[in-house]
Amino acid sequence: TCTASDSQTVVIGLAADSGCGKSTFMRRLTSVFGGAAEPPRGGNPDSNTLISDTTTVICLDDYHSLDRTGRKEKGVTALDPRANNFDLMYEQVKAIKEGIPVEKPIYNHVSGLLDPPELIKPPKILVIEGLHPMYDSRVRDLLDFSIYLDISNEVKFAWKIQRDMAERGHSLESIKASIEARKPDFDAYIDPQKQYADAVIEVLPTQLIPGDNEGKVLRVRLIMKEGVELFSPVYLFDEGSTISWIPCGRKLTCSYPGIKFFYGPDAYFGHEVSVLEMDGQFDRLDELIYVESHLSNISTKFYGEVTQQMLKHSDFPGSNNGTGLFQTIVGLKIRDLYEQIVDSRAKTPVEAAKA
Ligand code: ADP
Ligand code: G6P
Repeated sequence: TCTASDSQTVVIGLAADSGCGKSTFMRRLTSVFGGAAEPPRGGNPDSNTLISDTTTVICLDDYHSLDRTGRKEKGVTALDPRANNFDLMYEQVKAIKEGIPVEKPIYNHVSGLLDPPELIKPPKILVIEGLHPMYDSRVRDLLDFSIYLDISNEVKFAWKIQRDMAERGHSLESIKASIEARKPDFDAYIDPQKQYADAVIEVLPTQLIPGDNEGKVLRVRLIMKEGVELFSPVYLFDEGSTISWIPCGRKLTCSYPGIKFFYGPDAYFGHEVSVLEMDGQFDRLDELIYVESHLSNISTKFYGEVTQQMLKHSDFPGSNNGTGLFQTIVGLKIRDLYEQIVDSRAKTPVEAAKA
């Protein structure tokens, strides 16, 4: 017989504001696990779920308790906890973790209504992505690993303009207004979740170009909590030391403004962390192997796996900078965490006795 723990799903939380690169991150993650994630076959075409062989990604917008009209009537945003059903979120994530399928609601982003539910079967890895994966302490306690994508206001603005103006035809004024309108609730309910994250990817304007606010060249920081079970932070050259590294020169082509790495210990909301930072962007992605060979604890299965993943998805946004690099590395760390959990289950005395 199969006990609940044999089949237990590993649960990962990914928090970020909308339009901050969560779906890009998910595509990188599922690729590391060896398969592309797709919407469920034959179901609601407006489903927000993505399924691959190993991984199911659910969008927490599906736990909106108030639909678009309801939010308008009550004057609350989607970021407000009052617009979300945390009891149901908790019950369903817990059930899946215990191996029990659930009928999860669907929030239809097109109509703004709640559609009839879809069946979610327990996968090997469940990713819950959205605005509030670490908001409710009961849900938080179910997470085996958590990530917060922290996009600074300047960069968020640049990305939103790019998407909403170019692709959706919104005006600059309306984009500014919508960002401003969301900000109080973002600050109150979304941003504080970063203190609970095991890893934070912080995206800031570059420091290599004085006064830059274009949001094209980025300074990206991977903040990794120390002492997290089954997770050992990545490091540059020498664990625990403080290093500033400009890799440009004979082995790495860098056009203006160049590339600068930093690694060192720090404190983050009172926790001990290691920080790996990259400012600038790559000219030639194949030369990333030079940088990769100086990083340790990246949980690759073969030499050059990070570079291979980055080259494979060079068309994804952020592939030439720290966002793509650190998302790929976090993907590898999650694979490693998953494999360690599976291994440790296989070795429990109960299992050994059964064998
Ligand atoms: P989400 O799933 O959080 O809504 P997406 O992954 O769909 O976000 O990204 C939304 C938009 O943000 C993209 O179309 C792109 O314009 C921009 N974007 C996302 N990630 C990056 C990145 N790393 N670098 C530059 N632009 C990005
Ligand atoms: C989803 C997104 C939110 C977005 C909302 C739109 O819930 O996650 O980020 O704000 O849809 O809400 P609205 O009330 O404008 O339809």
